[in-house]
Amino acid sequence: PATESKRLRIAMQKSGRLSVDSQALFASCGLKINLREQRLIAHVENMDIDILRVRDDDIPGLVMDGVCDLGIVGENVLEEESLQRQLDNHSFDYTVLKRLDFGGCRLSIAVPQEDEYQGAASLEGKTIATTYPRLLGRYLKQQGVNARVVTLKGSVEVAPRAGLADAICDLVSTGATLEANGLREVDVIYRSKAVLIQRKDLTDNKQLKLINKLMPRINGVMQANE
Ligand code: PRP
Ligand code: ZN
Ligand code: MG
Repeated sequence: PATESKRLRIAMQKSGRLSVDSQALFASCGLKINLREQRLIAHVENMDIDILRVRDDDIPGLVMDGVCDLGIVGENVLEEESLQRQLDNHSFDYTVLKRLDFGGCRLSIAVPQEDEYQGAASLEGKTIATTYPRLLGRYLKQQGVNARVVTLKGSVEVAPRAGLADAICDLVSTGATLEANGLREVDVIYRSKAVLIQRKDLTDNKQLKLINKLMPRINGVMQANE
């Protein structure tokens, strides 16, 4: 029947900076998941929950489209998707249930070590490679700078050396990637952490009850980590 309660679907990053911490959070909340299985969907053995392991970039859309009920994703990816959907006149509703205590990083402008940089104006007329064209575009607009934005899904840090761009706008956490590629961080344009988000139109009572059971556990785990 249509009223039958479905298992709660939570999207998390399959592999990358958020996956280990997301899994650890689920474990701390008492979710029993078979971590050996590298399948797309992992069934939680002791609760009516399924964990979907997907690319981080897909998580905001899965939640905004109601395909998944909850998701753990970086604010940078979430904001980029929201800006893109606003431009596309596509719905981008979601609720942030909790800002988490992991996945901290910054989205920064970086230039080759030896290049001069005196603020955003130095980017005028330049080409900038990034995986976050909308966040970068918003920043450039705020700064009144005209630059060409090249979107790359990966290997952004090699773009200047490859002659594809003058500068990059990419995520930095330890700074090791920039250093290894002869780049210098010059401006931070966005600070991000992982967030737990919920789809807007969630009305199933059992699912809502389950979320109400999970939230105090998440808060407890975060307090214990403080
Ligand atoms: C980011 C970024 C760099 C790296 C920077 O990638 O694109 O490659 O992290 O980290 P560092 O300052 O500690 O060296 P991420 O791990 O988010 O993977 P993705 O680009 O594939 O999403
Ligand atoms: Zn990614
Ligand atoms: Mg990367």
